[in-house]
This record gives sequence, C-alpha cells and structure tokens, in this order.
Amino acid sequence: MSAPVRSTDKLTAEVLDHIVQSPRLESMWLNTLSLLEHVGASKIRRAVGDRHDRLDVLDHAADEARHALALKRQAQAIEPTEEYLAKDEALTYFSRLDHESNTWLDSQLGGPSTWRAYLVTTALIEQRALRLYPAYEERTTHEGVRRELKRLVGEEAKHRLMIESSAQELMAAVEQGWEQLLDREEGLFEVWMQAVSKTTGVEKSEPLRV
Ligand SMILES: [Fe+2]
Ligand SMILES: [Fe+2]
Repeated sequence: MSAPVRSTDKLTAEVLDHIVQSPRLESMWLNTLSLLEHVGASKIRRAVGDRHDRLDVLDHAADEARHALALKRQAQAIEPTEEYLAKDEALTYFSRLDHESNTWLDSQLGGPSTWRAYLVTTALIEQRALRLYPAYEERTTHEGVRRELKRLVGEEAKHRLMIESSAQELMAAVEQGWEQLLDREEGLFEVWMQAVSKTTGVEKSEPLRV
C-alpha cells in the first residue's frame, strides 16, 4: 500500500529541486541533516543509553551517529561549510516533536516512560526519514550522496522494523491518536520546510498550518 500524499510532499519536492541546483545550498542542507542525525543520536543515548541489555538500542544509536558523520562528510566533499538551512526551525522541529508527542502520550497512558518516549519519537522520525531521504536521493546529482542516502534509507527502514514489534502494543493503545501524532509531525516539518523555502528563495506555495 502506498503512503498517502500529504500536504508537505509538494513543498518538500520544490525545496529539494531548488537546493540540488546549488552546491552551496546542498552542502548547507546536508550539514543540517547531519545536525539532526547528531541530535537524534544524542537523544537516544540520553533517553535509553542505560539499556545496555538491548542490542537494538546500541545498534540504533551507533547508526544515527554514523549518519551524522556520513552526511557531514558528504557536505564537506561538495563544498566545505559550517552553515545550516533554517537551523533554529530544524532543531525546533525535533525538540517540539519529541516533547509534544510524549506529553500527549503521557496524558493518554499515564506517567512518563522513557522507553515509550523512545519508541514513539523513533517511529515518527523514521517515517519522515523514509519519505525525505528517497525524495532527496531522486534529485541529487552527486553520486556519493546518492550512494550514502541508499545506505541510510536501508538503515532507517531497519530501525523501523526493530521498533515495530515493541511499538505495536503501544500503538494499539493509542490507535486513535497515531494519526493525530502523524499530523502534528507533518505540521512541525512544514514549518521547517517553509523556513528553508524562504531562506533559499524558493517560491512559497503553501500556507503555514501551525
Ligand atoms: Fe538516521
Ligand atoms: Fe534511524
């Protein structure tokens, strides 16, 4: 079954089409993706770093750290930069998604749970990565970036599979709410994409939803 077309898909495509035409912008984009992967790796270590009993957690944290490094290397190979694309909005996307989804889940299911927080944030981030990275891979003209994105997509899909069984029970308990969480993720991601669009001079075509 194919994924439904959501409102940000068009905006994301426009942003990516624009970015890949400029080595400077693409390098800044890769640097920003690297930053988000780095934040992801840090969040995993902070939240569930004590779960040394779980091979899947260690594997996940190691992969996200590798993604941060690999994307940074690709950025440097295209054009060395320490600049980002809408850095504040990118970081806000991640932190608000993490915070809001978990506050909501806590209110639905009672009490905070770092494991539950890890599962839900991972599920939301992986579904985004599995839409964003293939869309970017389709457009970039850099062979090294394409190769790396292929590998990343494989690893992000593996992460999703790893949490799927653990998350199944949780998702069943919040079945009504999962669509709501996906919708919120979409809104937060859109804010970041709108900011990138504005920064890079892509024509704005969609109104802000949040
Ligand atoms: Fe990743
Ligand atoms: Fe991942």
